[in-house]
Parts: sequence; structure tokens; C-alpha cells
Amino acid sequence: ASHPTPAAESPIGIIGGSGLYSLLDDPQEVEVETPFGFPSENPQRGTFGGKDVVFIPRHGADHRFPPARINYRANLWALRALGVRRVLAPAAVGGLTPELGPGSVVVPDQLIDHTWGRAHTVYDGLGPVVHVGFADPYCPTGRATAVAAPVPEPLTMVDGGTMVVIQGPRFSTRAESRRNAREGGTVVGMTGAPEAGIARELAMCFTTLALVTDSDAGVDATTAVSHAGVLEAFAQNVEHLGTLLADVVSALPDTDCTCRHAVDGLTLPFELP
Ligand code: ADE
Repeated sequence: ASHPTPAAESPIGIIGGSGLYSLLDDPQEVEVETPFGFPSENPQRGTFGGKDVVFIPRHGADHRFPPARINYRANLWALRALGVRRVLAPAAVGGLTPELGPGSVVVPDQLIDHTWGRAHTVYDGLGPVVHVGFADPYCPTGRATAVAAPVPEPLTMVDGGTMVVIQGPRFSTRAESRRNAREGGTVVGMTGAPEAGIARELAMCFTTLALVTDSDAGVDATTAVSHAGVLEAFAQNVEHLGTLLADVVSALPDTDCTCRHAVDGLTLPFELP
């Protein structure tokens, strides 16, 4: 089977990270149950960037889910069930190189997954197993649109980079952080996986906008990350991030994309919603 682009412009999904719990102009709450249970919060549907957008706060509206307990499968399934084919996933991250200070927005093109024990696939126990390609984990269309968007001061945009995803919820030791940088990491977060892989399994376009809130512990001997510091840096930049996101939403085309064909020709255990 092929999974073509819907005729009318499909809504854009946004999964809000730490510090981003609401976004839309005129949100309507929609209840969606999925084969994997309920999403982190009932999705909010409304207008943003002049378009139809569905928003889910990744950690729940009250930030009650730690990174390893987020129901990534239900979040993405719920978005897809509401017609979403393109997901933007802002996230707070630490910088792994000295050049990346708070306020840098990295649009990664690669990912290294160091998480464990998370429900990380939708193809598990429901029927035939599906192995999706993930050589390029992020959507090429979404990335190109994001890096072409006007960058509100004082944010800066970085095109490409490797997102290392740690288990959390604690931050890295200096040695772990140095290892993450040595193995090629540009930024480090806690939620980029399995989210990106599940989006690919559901044949959805997935683009991360990683807002750097801190220099991770291994960057130099004086850097140390704290939850309070991350929240403060995020709060300082969240308005600018919102402006950037609105511009990306407004420019994001609803054209066909390789991501949407990730499971073409395979026997699926279920119809994609
Ligand atoms: N999120 C924000 N800063 C982070 C860091 N330094 N490590 C992991 N996740 C983060």
C-alpha cells in the first residue's frame, strides 16, 4: 500500500517540550484514545502561524511525565489519527560544543539513541514486524523549511548536528558528556528518541528544533547543568522560539515527502490511522 499526501492541507503537529505547554490561538481540546493508550494530554487543535495545528505538551500540561515515561507512541498515533502528517518537535537541549551557547537553535540531521527501556516501536506484538529505514532520521523538507525561516534575535540558527539522547531524568556526568561529544554529538537531550523513530514508523515527517539552554557538563570544567538553569534559559527564549515556530509552520509545505513512504510496500499489522 502507498500512503499518499491528503488532498486538503493536513494539520501540522507540534509536540511542545519543557517550558512550552500551550501555543495555539483558539485551542479546542480533542480526546483521542490510541492502541497504546492516551497521549500525554488531550491534543489541542487550533490556529498557529495562520494554519491548522494540533499541539500536545510532551511531558503533560503539568510536566508530570519524566522522559522515560512519556507515551511517545500514543502522542504520535493521536496526532496521525487527527490527520497530522508533519510534526515539529521543539526541545530544550544542552550544547556539547563550546560554540553552542544558550539561544542557539540546532536543527539536527542526525541522532544517537542512548535511551533504554522505553516503548520505542509501534510494531510490537500487534502482527508482522516492520523495520523502517532511519539512516536520515529527520524530515528533509521540514529541516530545509526550518533553516530557511527568519531567525528572531537573539536566537541563532544552526543547520545540522547530531542529537544525542540520554535516558535522564538526571543530567550527564562530565565523563558521559565528553563521551557524547567525542562520539560526534552536537547537542544532548532526553526526549528525541524514541520520538523520531516512532514518527518514521508511522510515516510522518518529523523535524526537531533544539533550543540550547545550557552548555553540557563536559564542555569545560566550569559548566554544570541544573534544572532551574534550563528552565530559566528556556523561559528567556520561549517567546522567540514561538515566533520562529510560527514562521516555520506558515512556510512548511504539505508536499509529498520521502518520510510519508517509510512503510510503503510492507505488510503492516494495522492500518495507519
Ligand atoms: N535538556 C536541556 N539541557 C540538557 C542537558 N544538558 N542534557 C540533557 N538534556 C537537556
